[in-house]
Amino acid sequence: MKVGERHYRTIWLNEDRWSVDLIDQRKLPHEFVVVNAQSMADIAVAIRDMWVRGAPLIGVAAAYGVALQMRVDASDASLDEAWERLNETRPTAINLRWALDAMRAYLKPLPPAERADAAYAKAAEIADEDVELNRAIGRNGLEIIREIAARKKPGEKVNILTHCNAGWLATVDYGTATAPIYLAAEAGIPVHVYVDETRPRNQGAFLTAWELAGHGVPHTLIVDNAGGHLMQHGEVDMVIVGTDRTTAQGDVCNKIGTYLKALAAQDNGVPFYVALPSPTIDWTVNDGVKEIPIEERSPDEVSLVAGRDEDGSVRSVRISPEATPAANPAFDVTPARLVTGLITERGVAKASAEGLAKLFPDRAR
Ligand code: MRU
Repeated sequence: MKVGERHYRTIWLNEDRWSVDLIDQRKLPHEFVVVNAQSMADIAVAIRDMWVRGAPLIGVAAAYGVALQMRVDASDASLDEAWERLNETRPTAINLRWALDAMRAYLKPLPPAERADAAYAKAAEIADEDVELNRAIGRNGLEIIREIAARKKPGEKVNILTHCNAGWLATVDYGTATAPIYLAAEAGIPVHVYVDETRPRNQGAFLTAWELAGHGVPHTLIVDNAGGHLMQHGEVDMVIVGTDRTTAQGDVCNKIGTYLKALAAQDNGVPFYVALPSPTIDWTVNDGVKEIPIEERSPDEVSLVAGRDEDGSVRSVRISPEATPAANPAFDVTPARLVTGLITERGVAKASAEGLAKLFPDRAR
């Protein structure tokens, strides 16, 4: 997407043709900084410490991490080590393991001398494929927004609520939840987005708001607890969120707080959609609540709040007593029964085993 006059993806091969550039998302919205990763270890740190984040993007970053490792040592042992090291960086988003499995399955049968070139080509292919999948999600989601717009009075906005950042920053380009929104805005449909701030990492306030502002999409930042109130007052026409892992029966794991939005949406008859590329479906699990590992992050993310002062300096301040313990589960699971539809690259699926199997008969088990 455009930043200033330039088009950026979130990750790309440096002009030296071997190292990898990526946007350091920890700095947004205050600074737009590109960093250069030169090793698998650099990529592992970037994923673990959330310089890059969002399920599809961490998958692509891991694929490039494997390529960087193959350049140094293309042995079987080195390939397995890269798989292990990168896989342990974050536990919840399935795209990470999906990309690592795809890389290893592609590289293992090749002679080691051919693996480095092949790994770069495969990582680029996974990145390009992500862009295409998101474009298709955008087209399918646009039809839903169009239908809602058609029921509105002329000039009335379609109000969409989103949680976390499932925008272009969470993918290689376009985003999942934001792709239909960007296409609707381009098509001249008046849209307005309620952006949940998404404590504790504030992906909504820091990233989604920055993205939407950059693309001129009308939006309003709200605290995480405001969504239910807005829905009760008819201020939300639909919810669209992304997901880190969706199970074969349609349970949706996404950023902590998503479940509460789904409950409020159901109570108020607001459609609750999830946008996802097929690599986010984990066909090996059914019950999301019981089977998906939920990342537990540092309590400091809850007890300390970071922001930029008037004078431009970034500060972190404590908001609770020193002795108060904090818990920080980073994701939750929304049961399939609360999901109106899954917007995928192949169309909109019912959130159920049958619904997903109908769209993906070649993948369902
Ligand atoms: O902890 P994060 O920032 O990696 O969490 C990201 C999300 O929860 C997104 O909603 C999800 O990855 C979908 S991104 C298209």
